[in-house]
Amino acid sequence: MSPARGAALGGEMVLLTHADPGALAREVETRLGGKLRWCRLDAPGSAEASVWFCAGPPPEAPLRLPELSWIHTGWAGVETWFGRDEWKPGTRLTRTVGDYPARMAEYVFGYLLARALDVPEALRQMEARAWRRWIPGSLAGRRLLVIGMGSIGGALAGAGRAFGMEVEGIRRSEPTAAERAAGARGPGELEACLARADVIVNLLPLTPQTASFWTSARFAAIGKGATFVNVSRGTTVDEDALRAGLRRGKPAFAILDVFREEPLPPDHPLRRDPRVWVTPHIAGMGTIAMMADAFVQNLLRYRAGEPLLHEVDRARGY
Ligand SMILES: NC(=O)c1ccc[n+]([C@@H]2O[C@H](COP(=O)([O-])OP(=O)(O)OC[C@H]3O[C@@H](n4cnc5c(N)ncnc54)[C@H](OP(=O)(O)O)[C@@H]3O)[C@@H](O)[C@H]2O)c1
Repeated sequence: MSPARGAALGGEMVLLTHADPGALAREVETRLGGKLRWCRLDAPGSAEASVWFCAGPPPEAPLRLPELSWIHTGWAGVETWFGRDEWKPGTRLTRTVGDYPARMAEYVFGYLLARALDVPEALRQMEARAWRRWIPGSLAGRRLLVIGMGSIGGALAGAGRAFGMEVEGIRRSEPTAAERAAGARGPGELEACLARADVIVNLLPLTPQTASFWTSARFAAIGKGATFVNVSRGTTVDEDALRAGLRRGKPAFAILDVFREEPLPPDHPLRRDPRVWVTPHIAGMGTIAMMADAFVQNLLRYRAGEPLLHEVDRARGY
């Protein structure tokens, strides 16, 4: 859309950043049921933008957006925004929850079940046209511990219960009695929870308090034989401590979607460890339709002066 045509529409100017901003605009307009006044990064009017919908990685170079009052990110994690000047005091930042909880639960239970059922053995037998029966394992009765019982952790807890698991989840704040009855635990109970868990899923947001959260001491506190799943951020884990822990069976197995260095180098020691499954940061891939949906829900609230959904708390760090 040319800036002149945009101006004729009235309303806020929305900067759209995405690999295909035109396609993103069409998704937004379909849900709005009308035209959006929008611009691309390289458009002459982009400095006028009061709203920035960032559906992907933000550009490396800082942007000059003096009118900016609201940033909406298509991602669930927000750590990159804490180092960016565009998120200045008085500018709001909202994030996307959308279908990330459902997708992440599918990922975590997909890989946990693949391991419990020994899907790799089934694939080997199919390849060899073999027929050797075994008794598949089960998740039922196993103890699941979710570290970071937020929007995604809550969905994981529900899926765990559906598979008959005993579920606990660590939060930053002390849980209420009702939350405690649903399995939520405060940070002071972490060590005891680690010791009794069979499966530990890391879902902490990356903040100054959670950077390198997974130290040697925390891996040592894990019960022998447990499985560790990381779908949070790679930098929450001391990977040397994780490798040392794997050698001692604490954890006995790791399913890792995120790493300190991404892409994970081909010769990285974690790639050579048979006790580790590696995926390339795909646990929660957002589609353009889902991200547009979450943005439009908030845009309607923004226009109506209503509270925005999933606003990031600068002081809390997530
Ligand atoms: N791998 C992927 O593809 C992928 C995709 C999407 C998201 N993610 C990651 O998943 C993270 C979680 O997303 P979410 O939507 O569930 O976040 P969320 O709703 O903000 O929940 C965060 C949870 O972590 C807890 N927490 C924060 N700091 C803590 C600390 N220091 N100690 C103990 N607990 C702490 C919070 O406690 P309170 O309840 O007390 O606030 C809350 O329960 C994201 O930040 C992102 O890094 C990864």
